[in-house]
Amino acid sequence: MLLEVENLELAYGEVPACRDISFGVGEGEIVTLIGSNGAGKSTTLRGVAGAMLPRKGRILFNGEDVTRMPAHRRALAGVALVPEGRRVFPALTVRENLEMGGFKYRNNQGKIRTLIDRAMEMFPRLRERTGQRAGTLSGGEQQMLALSRALMSEPLLLCMDEPSLGLAPMVVQDIFRSIRAVNQAGTSVLLVEQNAHYALETASRGYVLQTGAIIASGSCDALKQDQRVKEAYLGRK
Ligand SMILES: Nc1ncnc2c1ncn2[C@@H]1O[C@H](COP(=O)(O)OP(=O)(O)O)[C@@H](O)[C@H]1O
Ligand SMILES: [Mg+2]
Repeated sequence: MLLEVENLELAYGEVPACRDISFGVGEGEIVTLIGSNGAGKSTTLRGVAGAMLPRKGRILFNGEDVTRMPAHRRALAGVALVPEGRRVFPALTVRENLEMGGFKYRNNQGKIRTLIDRAMEMFPRLRERTGQRAGTLSGGEQQMLALSRALMSEPLLLCMDEPSLGLAPMVVQDIFRSIRAVNQAGTSVLLVEQNAHYALETASRGYVLQTGAIIASGSCDALKQDQRVKEAYLGRK
């Protein structure tokens, strides 16, 4: 396993937002965490990325215990987070946002240029908008930029928090196609989604979070047939 999370507990103050969370992401896999609003998905991702340190449990990444490792070191070790709401730097241009993502290679401008070229090949829309401030992009373009910015550090694990949020269905299709392409190029993906339809179509395995705990897990095909998942997350669609 590239990522192994064992019995993780994360809390804001006294109240635990996630309890006894255990899951893994294998090398080359796309794994999804699905669940409703407030289930603890973002909190779990913060734990994985090191933005929050756990009260209990253990996180192993790429053969190393990273449980107490701060976020910036975890980023250098190969964990990239695309946060909920994308959080591009609105006043910076598309290119400047990408350069920020390439902090790991700040002493190697050639490498940064190569990675920016690669991002723009993947998303030609970003090339057209290189000099435009990120705040003026559409939601879909901002998601493409946030994803590309995360890839500038050439992560081993890409963590995406609700990439579909607030985007039109056609744009969502584009984003999920890109996530699959990134995965096929060798990056493992941990995909957090409220939209179980998209998530279960994209990932190979999944875990269902409810009020801070994992209540079901399995292959996405099996989860699609799971009665609880059908009732709570897939509706009648
Ligand atoms: N910054 C915070 N301070 C206090 N409580 C929070 C904070 N962020 C989230 N929570 C609480 O933690 C729980 C899990 O939230 P979150 O991880 O954001 O869920 P999800 O991403 O699945 O919607 C919720 O009860 C939420 O209210
Ligand atoms: Mg969230």
